[in-house]
Amino acid sequence: MNDFWIAPSILAADFARLGEEVETVVAGGADLIHFDVMDNHYVPALTIGPPVCEKLRDHLRAREIDAPIDVHLMVKPVDAIVPEFARAGASYISFHPEASEHVDRTLQLIRDAGCKAGLVFNPATPLSWLDHLTDKVDLVLLMSVNPGFGGQKFIESTIDKLAAAREAIDRSGRDIRLEVDGGVKVDNIGRIAKAGADTFVAGTAIFGTEDYAETIAAMRDEIARANHVAG
Ligand code: DX5
Ligand code: ZN
Repeated sequence: MNDFWIAPSILAADFARLGEEVETVVAGGADLIHFDVMDNHYVPALTIGPPVCEKLRDHLRAREIDAPIDVHLMVKPVDAIVPEFARAGASYISFHPEASEHVDRTLQLIRDAGCKAGLVFNPATPLSWLDHLTDKVDLVLLMSVNPGFGGQKFIESTIDKLAAAREAIDRSGRDIRLEVDGGVKVDNIGRIAKAGADTFVAGTAIFGTEDYAETIAAMRDEIARANHVAG
């Protein structure tokens, strides 16, 4: 796998042709399939749940594609749905700490179900949630928009927050991915990478273009250039 992972968000895909859309982005170089779950409670929108994840996993398996599925839960409460997504073939399961009564327990639940565990930080959520949890987390996801909708504008203060999260992760010495979600595009992905992100969710910036492979390649070029400049 690449060091830097591109995670197209299927929220911006054509849901009527979901299997085909995912095959196309994977063939185009996607590393991870970002799967946004909204419950009309924690966030106003309502999207897709475990049955869709399961059918998508079956569809990919039948074609011998084993792309990891990165489930981003925007639901409250969290715990009951974790085993359902694990059974449905999720690889990563991430949740918002504000949506769980017992964050440590939810992280453990995700790992016990055989998945990698992620903690999601809204723009106003402090990184201090991570202080006592670095041994239980496989992925830190910083929202660079408020959760709930695709196509929003990247919030600039995420750049400094990414740098702080990168520092905390490096200090912990743990193997933790640093993912960013919201408003990521070809023209800002270099700056975002330079700030320390290694995993990039992009919905409209990929599915809104004609040629997904070309867009993903352009994103990789920008990341490589930013790292080169960073030395
Ligand atoms: C927003 C979702 C995002 C969304 C990103 O709540 O978590 O994953 O799909 O969409 P873009 O890349 O269009 O900002
Ligand atoms: Zn998301």
